[in-house]
Amino acid sequence: MKAVAVKPGTPNSVHLAEQPVPSVGDVPEGRGVLVRTLKVGVDATDREINDALYGNAPPGFEHLTIGHECFGVVEEVGPAVTKVKPGDYVTCTVRRPGGSIYDKIGRSDITSEETYYERGINLLHGFLTEYFVDDEEFIVRMPVGLKHLHVLAEPMSCAAKAVEQAYEAQKRLQVWEPKRAFVTGAGQIGLLTTLVLRLRGLDVYTCARSPKEGNLKAEIAEGYGATYVSTSGTTLPDLANEVGKPDLIVEATGSSAVAYETMEVVGHNGAVVWTSITGGNRRTEVPTDHVNLNWVLGNKLLLGSVNANYRHFESGIADMALGEVTFPGVTEKILTNPVDGMDEYAEMMRLLVEDKDALKVYVNVADG
Ligand code: BGC
Ligand code: ZN
Repeated sequence: MKAVAVKPGTPNSVHLAEQPVPSVGDVPEGRGVLVRTLKVGVDATDREINDALYGNAPPGFEHLTIGHECFGVVEEVGPAVTKVKPGDYVTCTVRRPGGSIYDKIGRSDITSEETYYERGINLLHGFLTEYFVDDEEFIVRMPVGLKHLHVLAEPMSCAAKAVEQAYEAQKRLQVWEPKRAFVTGAGQIGLLTTLVLRLRGLDVYTCARSPKEGNLKAEIAEGYGATYVSTSGTTLPDLANEVGKPDLIVEATGSSAVAYETMEVVGHNGAVVWTSITGGNRRTEVPTDHVNLNWVLGNKLLLGSVNANYRHFESGIADMALGEVTFPGVTEKILTNPVDGMDEYAEMMRLLVEDKDALKVYVNVADG
């Protein structure tokens, strides 16, 4: 069967590869679920893997099949599978357990090991193939009524985790009732985080560089009832002066400079969550005395959040459903750029690299 792959270490090596069709029997103890892939989303991670910034092939392979945002239909299940049945729509988690205590309790998303195993990203083949198989432990059922939001389940799981982690960590304060949040970045993570926070009743300011006029990202953020702020006109400190300092900031711009800037504006007892993965070597001047002083005097918290486990997929999917009835038709606007079939892999990568307006690029792998 066909697969879209890269040669890790070789920049711009995206190509079509051949892979054997997997079978339910590939997973021991009858726990295999064979999925026919319908759609796969790609994001900045796939772009950076193709740039050879990171990503490793599975042991024994020269290529790494990419794609970690999947949506498909169950084709066949092993005899021990109880959670899903043929015909169900599903997605699948990305990370697989290593050996730490966190991996053993189903929390590979917070593994304490330096090496992590992620399908389509590091050491494991991804989902941009005709079929894939996995242990039912990692297969997540998607309600049929959310079929039209397909590949957004994975980025949504990361947004759900980022917010959940802030709330978990803020239990340190005994009482934390956040009212105002800034979300920096209006890519898929920034917008989906905006949705998660709006559903929790926060006053959300979604901040990104592009001007507001004629901007789809602004339209989506405002469709969720947030305020879109173009940082080319209003800086984060300006915004904090105008509307008050936020209780929570979720940073998702992909810029480490902005990540540090958020530390200058969060309010007392506030939390900042960093989610951007910055593969480069950028250096920025930071007013360290000012941040340090305010950080200590304000009992502030900074945390990093990556990946998502099964539970975050479930809560993300529940929020997608609530989002559909609260802000009907808004979330699907994120799905801007479909690509027809895996043969169009070059066009997929071109959109990802060159088209700054392509909010979400995804491949229609098969009909269903
Ligand atoms: C993926 C996450 C993953 C992270 C780090 C993101 O693009 O969506 O699941 O943990 O990259 O590799
Ligand atoms: Zn991703």
